[in-house]
Amino acid sequence: MDEELYYKFYKVETIHWWFSARREIILDFIINYIKLDKISKILDYGCGTGGIIDILNKYFNNIYGTDNSKSAIDFCRKRNLFNTFLLNDFNNNQIFNNYFDLITIAYGVRNFENINKAMSECYRVLKDNGIIAILEFGKVNNKFLKLFFNFYFTKILPYLGAFFSKNKNAYIYLPESVMTFPNGNDFISILQKNGFKNCYFKNFSAGISLLYVGFK
Ligand SMILES: C[S@@+](CC[C@H](N)C(=O)[O-])C[C@H]1O[C@@H](n2cnc3c(N)ncnc32)[C@H](O)[C@@H]1O
Repeated sequence: MDEELYYKFYKVETIHWWFSARREIILDFIINYIKLDKISKILDYGCGTGGIIDILNKYFNNIYGTDNSKSAIDFCRKRNLFNTFLLNDFNNNQIFNNYFDLITIAYGVRNFENINKAMSECYRVLKDNGIIAILEFGKVNNKFLKLFFNFYFTKILPYLGAFFSKNKNAYIYLPESVMTFPNGNDFISILQKNGFKNCYFKNFSAGISLLYVGFK
């Protein structure tokens, strides 16, 4: 994806209630369930346009963003945020061992081509007792909402996305990838397999989004 496209996605996602509201979930979790004085270094993996970093910047100072897309990193750097942005891939990870207190990944794990490798790298770079918080779309578990949501996801969002970003394919890929991605306990098994303990997940809006949490 080129940088221009990241700019367009950023525009769509900052004005669209859907994306902004979803991202606040991760901040609520951190503020309400984590002892904030224990968090000094945060890594946002797959930072994209920096949507989560914008939210975390309101409360924390030491947040790093990484992405394997040069365009994403260039885009974030040009936004003049006071964060460190690193071009980095899970498959060739440059980050030190035991470095971060918290890793966040928002709506990114679905896109990682090797999810086990990604989770084992997250485990490696977290400090002992460090926390991973992953926000991801899930499968809606309420029949009525499912109808509404599937309609919105497949018939409205691709056109809205296409209108603003001129890239309909990205918003067609979104529902398709959600349908095939491991949901709930299936994803918890992946976290556990890669060393995380005391893992749990919480459903938001009848399963539209799930927050997965695990500890090193
Ligand atoms: C859907 S975007 C999510 C962006 C952001 N977290 C947000 O909330 O807007 C997923 C990002 O993951 C990045 N990504 C995909 N595979 C990756 C990998 N192997 N290593 C690092 N980043 C990766 C993509 O380049 C993309 O920018």
